[in-house]
Amino acid sequence: MPYSIAIDGPAGAGKSTIARAVARELGFVYVDTGAMYRAVGFYCLSEGIPIRTEERVCEAVRDITVRIAYDAAGEQRVYLNGEDVSVRIRTQEVGDAASTVSQYPLVREKLVALQQQLARESSVVMDGRDIGTKVLPQANLKIYLTASEEVRAERRFRELREKGQRISLPEVLREVRERDYRDMHREHSPLRQAADAVLLDASALSIDETIDAILALLDRTT
Ligand code: DC
Repeated sequence: MPYSIAIDGPAGAGKSTIARAVARELGFVYVDTGAMYRAVGFYCLSEGIPIRTEERVCEAVRDITVRIAYDAAGEQRVYLNGEDVSVRIRTQEVGDAASTVSQYPLVREKLVALQQQLARESSVVMDGRDIGTKVLPQANLKIYLTASEEVRAERRFRELREKGQRISLPEVLREVRERDYRDMHREHSPLRQAADAVLLDASALSIDETIDAILALLDRTT
């Protein structure tokens, strides 16, 4: 049986950096589920599909294919209708669109099926919002990774700046708050800590300390 580690938490908590490193350490596959929702958001934005109109988004989603593959370095790539969109989905705008379209059950159904398939094929570290609660309720280890709003906004701000995007820190903070609110209050699979997840507040921890904390938990569960 493949082994699975679920890491959920709000935007900017460092989930992807941590999950990728833990996967590398263990020789597991890292699955970034947010990238799949981003691919759908990106598609809607680029095709001019109104993201707030559920019917239109669901109609579009029926016709698209989202596929995950891994490059020679083991990095996840996301293909939308056969085209690699991994870099283009990394903007604040696409992140917000992903948060909006991820509210629709049909979008979730399609992507959750893909995520569960990946976890059947390999041992995974999977990050997202509903991995411990919905996608992999039987995960061997569940982590709810969070950090203060300020720390998360600062981190997102630096990431976006490094990618050359012009955005101010107060703007990022506002968007982080809006996104978290939407992700936590939606009707279907809202972001919340699973009853059996371990809460890890990384506000005062370095990346290495956070990774070590997760590996230590793993030692205890195996
Ligand atoms: O983790 P991220 O910023 O790439 O995620 C983008 C959005 O996708 C997030 O705001 C909500 C949605 N999402 C989701 O609903 N469920 C997941 N498992 C992962 C992401």
